[in-house]
Amino acid sequence: MTTVYNFNAGPSALPKQVLERAQAELTNFNGTGMSVMELSHRSKEYEAVHQHAINLLKELYNIPDQYKVLFLQGGASLQFSMIPLQFLKEGKIGNYILTGSWSEKALNEAKLIGETAIAATTKDTQYKTIPNATHLQLNENDAYLHLTSNNTIYGTQWANFPEITHAPLIADMSSDILSRPIDIEKFGLIYAGAQKNLGPSGVTVAIIREDLLEENVDQIPTVLRYKTHADANSLYHTPPTFSIYMLDQVLTWVKEQGGVEAIQKMNEEKAKLIYDAIDESSGFYKGHAEKDARSLMNITFNLPTEEDNKKFLAKAKELGFIGLNGHRSVGGCRASTYNAVPLEACLALRDLMDSYRKNN
Ligand SMILES: Cc1ncc(COP(=O)(O)O)c(C=O)c1O
Repeated sequence: MTTVYNFNAGPSALPKQVLERAQAELTNFNGTGMSVMELSHRSKEYEAVHQHAINLLKELYNIPDQYKVLFLQGGASLQFSMIPLQFLKEGKIGNYILTGSWSEKALNEAKLIGETAIAATTKDTQYKTIPNATHLQLNENDAYLHLTSNNTIYGTQWANFPEITHAPLIADMSSDILSRPIDIEKFGLIYAGAQKNLGPSGVTVAIIREDLLEENVDQIPTVLRYKTHADANSLYHTPPTFSIYMLDQVLTWVKEQGGVEAIQKMNEEKAKLIYDAIDESSGFYKGHAEKDARSLMNITFNLPTEEDNKKFLAKAKELGFIGLNGHRSVGGCRASTYNAVPLEACLALRDLMDSYRKNN
């Protein structure tokens, strides 16, 4: 079989061990004689998987008791709407920090629902930077402050989050959830589509502080209320059972790696290989993000010309490197080094970058 190095930005690489386990259980899950996909979501066998995934995420991410873990559908994109629907009441402001296309999309959905503001933006640097967390335009009637913890397209990531007390901090962590330890108590709500660090697409994880569940609930459709899903332990309607089963398997794998701190160390090591290849290339490779804003998850760079980018990407593809194209909106190159991307893939990319530079 050909070796491929999967640097896809999402859906993205899953741990090989997880895929092999899922394959082994595919036609006979836990002695049931059927696949987990064929079980009722009300069966004790499925409910055990569901609860195990919730408990394990709480354990691995150190989630305090006053937070609920929810499994939702509609992707992170539906959260862009669910958040203002629930929290953006008359007289309140949905305040957004813009660090890239995903935060712009979140803001645009909120604009359809209520009053919004921009607490900070780094658009004038082509989103190469992250704003200073202590220089934000805050309002006393903010309903919340929203940020994107990792900017999948531009390759920047928050190192230190704003410390605010006047309103809940809400974070889209779609592309860096569970990649490093986080102080959950700084946030009112964290959400993430699973398809980068947590499993396959189909399930969206939300971690919400319990006191926020009650806000504004009478005004919105039942299925769009966080409280509906919290009260039903994310079994209000049929959940994406196979995605949650895979999420549970990925969490088990994270635990086997030594937990989130061990994962962070590996992520730092992997990203360093590629950033070093950029920094030691005498300008042949040019990173998009400023050094202090660099993401450990999405590494964005360009070669001297667009033609060079194309040639490099074609050579990489020929050698089995998948998903190195930059997002269609910005071009260039992007290596996504999520939790499940193995060190060997990053070593291989580093070697390719070094040899390609020497030969060109
Ligand atoms: C940071 C971020 N937010 C939101 C999204 C959208 O997620 P979904 O496709 O699950 O709606 C993405 C997808 O890549 C993302 O990277």
